Amino acid sequence: MKNIAEIRADFPILNTKVYGKPLVYFDNGATTQKPQCVIDTMNEVYTTYNANIHRGVHAISDRASEEYEKAREKVRSFINADKREEIVFTSGTTASINAVAFSFGERFIKKGDEIIISNLEHHANIVPWQMMCDRKGAKLKIIPVNDNGEIIPEEYHKILSAKTRLVAVTQVSNALGTILPVNEIIEAAHAMNIPVLIDGAQGIQHGVTDVEKLDCDFYAFSGHKIYGPTGIGVLYGKEKWLTDMPPYQGGGDMVENVTFEKTTYNELPFKFEAGTMNFPGAIGLGTALDYVLSIGRENIAAREQELLEYAATRLAGIKGLKIYGNSPAKISTISFLLNNIHQYDTGMVLDKLGIAVRTGTHCAQPVMDRFGIDGTVRASMCFYNTKEEINILGTGIEKVISMFS
Ligand code: ALA
Repeated sequence: MKNIAEIRADFPILNTKVYGKPLVYFDNGATTQKPQCVIDTMNEVYTTYNANIHRGVHAISDRASEEYEKAREKVRSFINADKREEIVFTSGTTASINAVAFSFGERFIKKGDEIIISNLEHHANIVPWQMMCDRKGAKLKIIPVNDNGEIIPEEYHKILSAKTRLVAVTQVSNALGTILPVNEIIEAAHAMNIPVLIDGAQGIQHGVTDVEKLDCDFYAFSGHKIYGPTGIGVLYGKEKWLTDMPPYQGGGDMVENVTFEKTTYNELPFKFEAGTMNFPGAIGLGTALDYVLSIGRENIAAREQELLEYAATRLAGIKGLKIYGNSPAKISTISFLLNNIHQYDTGMVLDKLGIAVRTGTHCAQPVMDRFGIDGTVRASMCFYNTKEEINILGTGIEKVISMFS
């Protein structure tokens, strides 16, 4: 494995200074930084073969189409899906979940049906289901969360019923960092023939995700959270579901034949890819996945766990700091509040010290409500962060407390 200096050298932005101080980037949950190889790939697409895919007979269109389909194959292999037909490119996790909520809803949901989500979900895995429930007269059921920020499995088993048509849960909480027991969730749902969607936005980049082993029915993730470009995402769906689901957007490329009398749709996965797709983004995502594999997903997970332990120990010594999300199963994210200091004040002072953290509800308002707070400060670390940066955060937090006390 590359050493940390070599890894950091791959990410040019990590040399940035803000307010004259070295950037300490702890907002990886919001978006990750890009290695030079991804930036180079995007540059190469736009400077040498930018042309619309699946539409031209000319050389650079062929090249773009070929690279786009190669990227699809890279995604398939990365998550170990069975077939390329099961990999749909979207604009991100949000679009992937909305696509399922609409298409699955149109085909399979009727009045009185129930959808289960958890109290830990990001708004992207709440609102599309609420909209679907409104359209179809279905009902949302919520798996509650305990004081550690973990779902309560017994409660899940209680609400799982003959009325449940789909379970949609996150792999990892973006707000607290909790890793959910998705294997158990899927197993219990499948025992009752209920399909499961996993929101992988915060899971895919922190270890190995194997959709065949997981046996989930749908899996959604975003390119920009796994060191790839923004505006590209993936929807994995088992072929049997995608075949039966209607397209959610109509337009070019998703059709086989169009007449005013009758239109027929293209085969999978193109049926779900209407209009000009973000092919440079998909190709850049392919490079990002290659990069992650070159570092090693197990190595990434091990390094991040080491950072998490170091940060937990460093921050535990700070009087007045309270961590939200204390599950032993966590990614390298620490969500916290300081005494009575508002999270925005903390975030703004840390910013002046060059430290980028996220503040607020993290688009997960219901879990903030669960804890009776209106937000937290979130330091989300990844494998290119260092213990020195954690020390800078620790000192910064101490400074915030002394400033406001
Ligand atoms: N969903 C992203 C986050 O957790 C934006 O910050």
